[in-house]
Amino acid sequence: MAMRERRLVFGEVADDYDRARPGYPEQLVEDVLAAAGDGPALEVGAGTGKATAAFASRVDDLTCIEPDPRMAAVLRRKAPGVRVVVSSFEDWAPDRRYGVLFSGQAWHWVDEERRADLAWAALAPGGVLAPFWNHSMVADAALHAALQEVDRRHGLDEHTPHRPLAEELPEHDLAGERAALRLDEERFPELRALRYHSTRSIPAADYPAFLMSFSVYRMLDPATARAALADTAAAIEGYGGVDFVMVTDLVLARRA
Ligand SMILES: C[S@@+](CC[C@H](N)C(=O)[O-])C[C@H]1O[C@@H](n2cnc3c(N)ncnc32)[C@H](O)[C@@H]1O
Repeated sequence: MAMRERRLVFGEVADDYDRARPGYPEQLVEDVLAAAGDGPALEVGAGTGKATAAFASRVDDLTCIEPDPRMAAVLRRKAPGVRVVVSSFEDWAPDRRYGVLFSGQAWHWVDEERRADLAWAALAPGGVLAPFWNHSMVADAALHAALQEVDRRHGLDEHTPHRPLAEELPEHDLAGERAALRLDEERFPELRALRYHSTRSIPAADYPAFLMSFSVYRMLDPATARAALADTAAAIEGYGGVDFVMVTDLVLARRA
């Protein structure tokens, strides 16, 4: 069997992923489209369409790149009017120049050495690259500490939804974003960052599927995953579920 790639494990639970994962703030969609340059829209790593549906209702011409056919099947059902290309972004040759390239929770899976070059090639002059990410932070401090302790016990790294509390999330640092995304000033001279706040509650019964939609849990061996889920269920027993403070970070980088 081919080795399982961490960036392609989401399709193993495509329907659960679609049910369990959060969408994105309406204001973010508006801000991305307000910043967009002239030309059609492109989404990279569209998955099951958690961001796509909101954009598709606002733009006429949207192309979605998604390498996993199981994710793409859900996406086609949810957003029938969009063009879906089953490919990684690295393997796709842009057929046109796009006014906006957006990517929810997926830009980090594109080859970091190449992604700025690929965005440059896909965007029209004045077009905008718009990657964004949700950070889910457990609102209750005691529950948060208990869940982090469970994660540590099972060797889970920091990429779980049991992230630092809201006040500990550092403010956007534009120089840091530019360096992390490898966006040079010559080709992407204009950089902006926006942050959105919301809340979300996940009932205890839905929590295992939510955790199993994250690659870090999917990569655990089955016995460890079962133990981590059982210990998590024990930690949240009595709370009825988990309340999250959601922070969504958007970067807007305009191509020269
Ligand atoms: C965490 S999911 C995000 C899906 C969706 N955008 C969302 O907001 O829920 C990451 C997605 O990126 C896709 N992906 C992974 N590597 C990719 C690549 N190199 N190019 C394009 N998409 C990729 C995965 O198949 C998966 O659907």
